[in-house]
Amino acid sequence: MTQLPEHETLSALDALKAEYPWPDVEGVTPWDYTLGGGGRELVDALINQHKPKVFLEIGCFLCSSSKRWLEQKEDMTVIGVDPWDDALIEQCNRYVGRPKLTREYPDIEVQKKFARDVKEQSPFRTALANVRSYRDRFIPVRGTSPDMLYKIHASGVTPDIVYIDADKKIEDLEVAHSLWPNALITGDDWHWSRTKGYPMRQVVYAFAEKYGFEVEASWATWILKR
Ligand SMILES: C[S@@+](CC[C@H](N)C(=O)[O-])C[C@H]1O[C@@H](n2cnc3c(N)ncnc32)[C@H](O)[C@@H]1O
Repeated sequence: MTQLPEHETLSALDALKAEYPWPDVEGVTPWDYTLGGGGRELVDALINQHKPKVFLEIGCFLCSSSKRWLEQKEDMTVIGVDPWDDALIEQCNRYVGRPKLTREYPDIEVQKKFARDVKEQSPFRTALANVRSYRDRFIPVRGTSPDMLYKIHASGVTPDIVYIDADKKIEDLEVAHSLWPNALITGDDWHWSRTKGYPMRQVVYAFAEKYGFEVEASWATWILKR
């Protein structure tokens, strides 16, 4: 599916890797905790069916979802875009004692250690520690979408799949589609949130109607199909 000949994509990926190096994750404790809300088998199936070389994830948090994609295909590179900024420290702190984190880590002391580690190790290093076995195939493009999408495009890398799990903004879809019109677009947040009127559904439906896509959804996951 990539547009460039394979050797060009490879060298563009190498250049992107050099531009966005890994932090030191030696001794850093990973926390494989996802905020995703289900239905990701749809994305696994997309990877298995379309055999992408390059998968772009917008909004990685602690890279639990990124790890899932990396595990699907051993020659696929995942580019992760996320600011990994200190807002995530406060966010993780707020999760302590809440039902979702409690389901994952029933012991409150473990939950507190989770929040403490994210703070002391930094969100960036904690996230990257979670994908440290995939150091060769995960590129951390630290920053926000859509700015970073233009930078990735300028580097000559063409993602085959774009997975959006960030700010629920239509501009992520618009910019990704304008830069890489052949990329499959999918994402999370379909189920979020009834009281807020399901903002991601509105974004995805509006985009699908404008560009003639069909939408398939399961739990939190949505996929745009021709
Ligand atoms: C819901 S979390 C992602 C969850 C992750 N995919 C998982 O399954 O565990 C949303 C993430 O989007 C990031 N984010 C927010 N705005 C963003 C933007 N404009 N571009 C890229 N990432 C953004 C946040 O820092 C946060 O880590």
